[in-house]
Amino acid sequence: MDKPAPPRALSKGRRAAGQPGSQSVVPRILLLMDTESYRAGDFLRAAQRLGLSVLAGTNQPHVTEALAPERTLAVDYADEEASLAAIAAAHARSPFSAIVALDDTGTALAARASTALKLPSNPQESVRSASNKLVFREIMQAAGLPGPTFRAASVDDDPARLAREVVFPCVLKPVFLNASRGVIRADDVPGFVRAFTRIKALLDDPGLRAKGGDAAGRVLIESYLPGVEVALEGSIADGELRVLAVLDKPDPLEGPYFEETLFITPSRHGQAVQRELARQGQAAVDALGLRQGPVHAEFRVHQGAVTLLELAPRSIGGNCARMLQFGAGQSLEEVILRQAVGHAEPPPPRERRAAGVMMIPIPAGGILRDHAGSARAAAVAGIEGVEISIPVGQPVVPLPEGRRYLGFIYAKGPTPAFVEQALRKAHACLSFDIRPE
Ligand SMILES: Nc1ncnc2c1ncn2[C@@H]1O[C@H](COP(=O)(O)OP(=O)(O)O)[C@@H](O)[C@H]1O
Ligand SMILES: [Mg+2]
Repeated sequence: MDKPAPPRALSKGRRAAGQPGSQSVVPRILLLMDTESYRAGDFLRAAQRLGLSVLAGTNQPHVTEALAPERTLAVDYADEEASLAAIAAAHARSPFSAIVALDDTGTALAARASTALKLPSNPQESVRSASNKLVFREIMQAAGLPGPTFRAASVDDDPARLAREVVFPCVLKPVFLNASRGVIRADDVPGFVRAFTRIKALLDDPGLRAKGGDAAGRVLIESYLPGVEVALEGSIADGELRVLAVLDKPDPLEGPYFEETLFITPSRHGQAVQRELARQGQAAVDALGLRQGPVHAEFRVHQGAVTLLELAPRSIGGNCARMLQFGAGQSLEEVILRQAVGHAEPPPPRERRAAGVMMIPIPAGGILRDHAGSARAAAVAGIEGVEISIPVGQPVVPLPEGRRYLGFIYAKGPTPAFVEQALRKAHACLSFDIRPE
């Protein structure tokens, strides 16, 4: 693995990327985003609040109205060489202090370009390992971390034969997707064959084949880990994991599909479990060789025993980060960008209030014809916001194939239990008219 870059202070190396010695230089950052990214608006707003100069690298120009064309750079995540050349040329015109990927799509390119331009970064190899679920499992196993038993298969393998060799229940998944896309539990041989066939069909898509490359030809098969799920939001500074928030997922996630709904912080798990989450998170960061930037990890907790499910060098997905606030009103994106441009001090702690988000479950597939109840939901005590993110008239696709969130509800309050109740009460106010296409 690459040698970690030494930490640098803004006053030294990174400011030199702009005008050496100048006190008034505005750090310039390249934000790598996907046209479909939920995170673009929040990161752009954070950059604006911090007074950073931004170039947005996107796979389609003019991804947001907030950006003038001269502030965007076309990148093609499937063609890293061309993207690298475009980034190097932009850097030569006006140097970046940092390159930040908003979500999984851009992390590999961000690491590669940063390394080439001698900007602070995670080692490329670490980021690549974290983005492939099979490689990730192999590294965790070699590091002695607890995890499911696993094996990889090719989409061309005979599922009936594979099914005779596995122990049930098991979980099948693509190795390079996220947000539970294509993740299916199987309890018996027919269920396994159905799940496998469904994943194979999902992966048989030109866009996904271009995105995944060889990884699009693989299916990962894991033993099913029982238990409740907990997420950890953190940031890595000089290889050290700082825990920003521990989030409980109080709805059961038992399959056959794994639709995430509630995230509530602070966690109601005891200190011993929370210490173990942090310990395993740090061990995974070390094993991968990650050095800096945001990290999102997920764990299963069963009878007090913690097992790391995954850890990714990015922040929490969808619009979930909107429930998190640090110190006197810093967003998670501000925390991430401040660190990226060289602020070495630890971020302030999350606010005192409990906070939570519900990713609104998708009740059925079809066309969203109408929805009702948002105003009533927003009026529930503790509710901070309700947003339906799929426009009326557009398709709604449930898991395991779906990849767009129906919407989000945010809540704050004195206790996690209060926040959870508020979210459930608000959700009960909502109704959706979804008709077959
Ligand atoms: N081996 C497993 N045992 C139990 N549940 C699992 C297992 N693997 C995945 N899941 C469930 O599926 C969800 C998504 O799987 P994950 O591997 O985290 O993929 P993604 O990157 O799509 O989030 C997990 O959060 C968990 O609820
Ligand atoms: Mg996950």
